[in-house]
Amino acid sequence: MHNIEYIYKTELEQLKSAVKDGGSSYHTFTLSSFSENYPEIRTVVLRGVGIEPLRISFNADFRSPKIKELKSNNSCSALFYDQDRRVQLRFKCKAILNYNNHVTREIWDNTPLQSRKCYMGNYAPTILLDEWNPNIPSEYLKKDPDKNISEQGYINFSHIQLEIIESEVLQLHHDGHIRFKVNNKGEYLYVAP
Ligand SMILES: Cc1cc2nc3c(=O)[nH]c(=O)nc-3n(C[C@H](O)[C@H](O)[C@H](O)COP(=O)(O)O)c2cc1C
Repeated sequence: MHNIEYIYKTELEQLKSAVKDGGSSYHTFTLSSFSENYPEIRTVVLRGVGIEPLRISFNADFRSPKIKELKSNNSCSALFYDQDRRVQLRFKCKAILNYNNHVTREIWDNTPLQSRKCYMGNYAPTILLDEWNPNIPSEYLKKDPDKNISEQGYINFSHIQLEIIESEVLQLHHDGHIRFKVNNKGEYLYVAP
């Protein structure tokens, strides 16, 4: 038998440190959501991890399709893979959308100008374009806006918290993979790899 509680706690520690560590494989993850006819997936940056209840979070433009999708169905999944340690984490989640509230205010206040300008584009992300447009005001392509001007981006800023309903860990080993789930009652269940 393995100490799967210990493995799980270690993975949560890895996730926590990945928030500030851009070099960690867990710094970005793949998020899925329900669209009308297709499941949608995309990469997002891990911006926060909260324990008890377990939550992970990311930032997004409020005008983006993922927000519409999560509004109409807040069930989604998050997938992480650490290639060096050969560990996959899979989470079933419920999304909580924060827009123009005390949560977004605090995070926005700590968002660097370089990231703020990504929320200053005139176009809603994913809208069709007649020609290439980076969707950042042209004067800020090579420099950052002043703090005052960067506030214009706040109207498009949102912070999404994903409440984890079920976790799954897969550790790849030459002598037998380890795979288990942790449900929202905190029960640990081995599943076949
Ligand atoms: C490395 C990387 C990190 C990204 N991080 C984010 C992010 O934190 N938030 C976000 O909304 N989009 C992020 N994106 C862009 C999304 O993957 C996606 O292209 C965009 O948000 C539009 O998604 P949607 O049409 O499903 O809403 C990132 C893309 C890459 C390649």
